[in-house]
Amino acid sequence: MSQSNPVPGNGDDASRGFWSSRLAFILAATGSAVGLGNIWKFPYVTGENGGGAFVIVYLICIAVIGVPIMMAEVFLGRNGRHNPITSMRLVAERNLKSPAWRVSAVVGMLAAFIILSFYSVIGGWSASYVEHALVGDFAGGTADSINAIFSDLLASPIQLLIWHTVFMALVVLVVSRGLKGGLERVATILMPTLLVLLLVAVGYAMTTGHFGEAVSFLFKPDFSALTFNAVLIALGHAFFTLSLGMAVMMAYGSYLRRDISIGRTAISVAFMDTAVALLAGLAIFPVVFSFGLEASAGPGLIFQTLPLAFGNIPMGWLFGTLFFILLLFAAWTSAISLLEPVVEWVEEKTSLARAGSTIVVGVLCWALGIASILSLNVWSDVTPLGMFERFEGKTIFDLLDFFTANVMLPLSGLLTALFVGWAVAKESLKLDLALDGTAFTLWYNAIRYVTPVAVLVVFAYNLLA
Ligand code: PFF
Repeated sequence: MSQSNPVPGNGDDASRGFWSSRLAFILAATGSAVGLGNIWKFPYVTGENGGGAFVIVYLICIAVIGVPIMMAEVFLGRNGRHNPITSMRLVAERNLKSPAWRVSAVVGMLAAFIILSFYSVIGGWSASYVEHALVGDFAGGTADSINAIFSDLLASPIQLLIWHTVFMALVVLVVSRGLKGGLERVATILMPTLLVLLLVAVGYAMTTGHFGEAVSFLFKPDFSALTFNAVLIALGHAFFTLSLGMAVMMAYGSYLRRDISIGRTAISVAFMDTAVALLAGLAIFPVVFSFGLEASAGPGLIFQTLPLAFGNIPMGWLFGTLFFILLLFAAWTSAISLLEPVVEWVEEKTSLARAGSTIVVGVLCWALGIASILSLNVWSDVTPLGMFERFEGKTIFDLLDFFTANVMLPLSGLLTALFVGWAVAKESLKLDLALDGTAFTLWYNAIRYVTPVAVLVVFAYNLLA
């Protein structure tokens, strides 16, 4: 195991390092949770699913399923104090249970690796949009000219590759510098900056004259617009937005000191993540409404709809640039967290040090990303599972997205919940979570019953429907 970041006099295998404080962990875990999911996906899925009622279901999923699983993952990481796979094995052995439970971490880490390969491609879009906004490419744009910017980007493997490479290099740079000099340093600078940028964006949105409309869109529930499918989407998104089922919170938990309450910490992270998603909605929808654009524009909402607005408002280049920097920062801190579990594992299992492990994993992941890039253009007709009706027309990119989101994440989340809820001794959970009596009972029932049942329902529906 490498000896980076020694923390002298710390008892408990100090050589692998600890977060400097509870706040450092909260910022880093929030950095992981707050990402494209909050700023890109949450507003558009809310838009597509009718607004307020969807938001309520999403909030319930975060509280009842997301937070309990996050606590379980952080617990496993901290209790094992190794990479997620080894941590799960150690916790299983300590509880006299089969080491095979660690398959949950294996699936999660594989998912993290695959997701990072295409998350980086989309992170690259954000980086490219910072440039477009800065040089004034949106200025005076029409729907056609703005759409052309997006479709030109997707049609060009070279442009996509350049930005994917830039983005992945940024991620590798941070992770290679280790816990304190890399992950923690970047989170403590970027997260407060991101919050300020977001508040500026909301402040601007308040001047558009359409803020009230956005507030009622997000918070006034119309349950007649809610479908069963929307409930499933809300649950899936709660998982994704809190970075669950990918071994990430286990990896981050492995650097958390024993005297910090996992319960309260996880709640803070979930609260911050939710606040950012809602603020992003409050920043985006007033602008969308003030131009009479569609809230239900789908994935193009921030890459096509918003730039149109930025191109036609005073100082739009400035707000546009700030907005896409915000998106880039959010994507960056999330991507860092996707790389960390696999790097931690390689570092502990091989003779490679931190920098070497990061470069090896980063390059492999970058190479896999090329398949997603080509799926958007040259290989757009390549549909490897096209012979099955269900996967007709799905490109490699679509398939990677489908299998990670619909199979691997729920599977990993389900196994984690079952393991922690049914195989780990209650006393050790009580001690580590440090929740008071009622809160612990609520959590324990959630992780034993509610979470597995909810995840199973979604899992079955997504696979069979
Ligand atoms: N939570 C991130 C987002 O909302 O964009 C995405 C993500 C990051 C998922 C890290 C999973 C993960 F491990």
